[in-house]
Amino acid sequence: MLAQESTGGEQLFQTHCARCHGILGEGGEGPSLKRPQLTHAPDDAALLVVITGGIPGTGMPGSWMLSPIDAQQLVTYVRGLGELPDEPMPGDPGAGELVYNTAGNCASCHILNGVGNGIGPELNGVGARRNAEYLRRSVTSPEVEQPKVVDRFRGTLNAFLSVRVVSEYGTYEGMRINEDAFSVQMRDLAGETYSFNKADLIRYEKAFGHSYMPGYAALLTETQIDDVVSYLMTQRD
Ligand code: HEC
Ligand code: HEC
Repeated sequence: MLAQESTGGEQLFQTHCARCHGILGEGGEGPSLKRPQLTHAPDDAALLVVITGGIPGTGMPGSWMLSPIDAQQLVTYVRGLGELPDEPMPGDPGAGELVYNTAGNCASCHILNGVGNGIGPELNGVGARRNAEYLRRSVTSPEVEQPKVVDRFRGTLNAFLSVRVVSEYGTYEGMRINEDAFSVQMRDLAGETYSFNKADLIRYEKAFGHSYMPGYAALLTETQIDDVVSYLMTQRD
């Protein structure tokens, strides 16, 4: 047998993709790929672009180092995953919508379908970006699951980082929106946006592993969590 015959799509997937999309394509930090319709990859040509170029501004990196043959094998393999059954929902999405809007008060920090506000990420399409397991961890242990962005030049960054800024005008706590070598922009819990010159600051602290989102394991029942996770799973556009 020729050596390259063992480097099939499955092997390539294990090496390059499984750490984010799961060993079986069931998802993790990245979405489950066991879905017949992929949001960013309606056809094979688009899938090839996603695999090699990534999805800019998200946690999906480009695998530009793949040979054209390997990239094509991955396209075939990922399409095959789409024929497998999708993840089952752990609960009732209708009941989960109610939890989202009442007991969970999620809309006080998240925008979903144009409703809500606050410092959390928009949840439109979150069911196409994340799998059930990840969504559950986001709800129960938000400080563990922190959304990432892959920047071509700066590597993997926290998309939502809690920061504390001390300037001569006072102390500001909130979420970093943007940062470069000279300045930092942030939004406080009241939704006000601020921009600072780093050179003018007395202190600038980043709180890795801190989340403004409460851990819901203590606030909701197990059934309510199953239901709200199911509701998030149905958010796929
Ligand atoms: C560092 C983690 C990471 C790695 C490694 C990774 N991905 Fe992703 N991938 C993601 C994330 C996160 C998303 C969701 C991006 C978004 O839409 O916000 C994603 C999205 C996708 C999508 C789009 C799904 C859709 O419904 O549109 C495809 C297809 C995909 N990845 C395939 C792959 C393949 C194939 C590999 C290996 C060559 C790979 N990914 C490697 C994190 C990763
Ligand atoms: C007090 C504000 C706040 C509330 C209330 C809140 N969240 Fe969050 N949420 C956040 C922040 C901030 C993040 C960004 C990551 C982090 O800092 O943990 C986040 C992240 C998430 C994520 C991860 C998104 C991704 O793409 O990785 C999900 C899912 C989520 N929240 C769902 C919920 C649900 C469901 C509820 C209600 C049960 C809820 N949140 C209530 C602030 C909040």
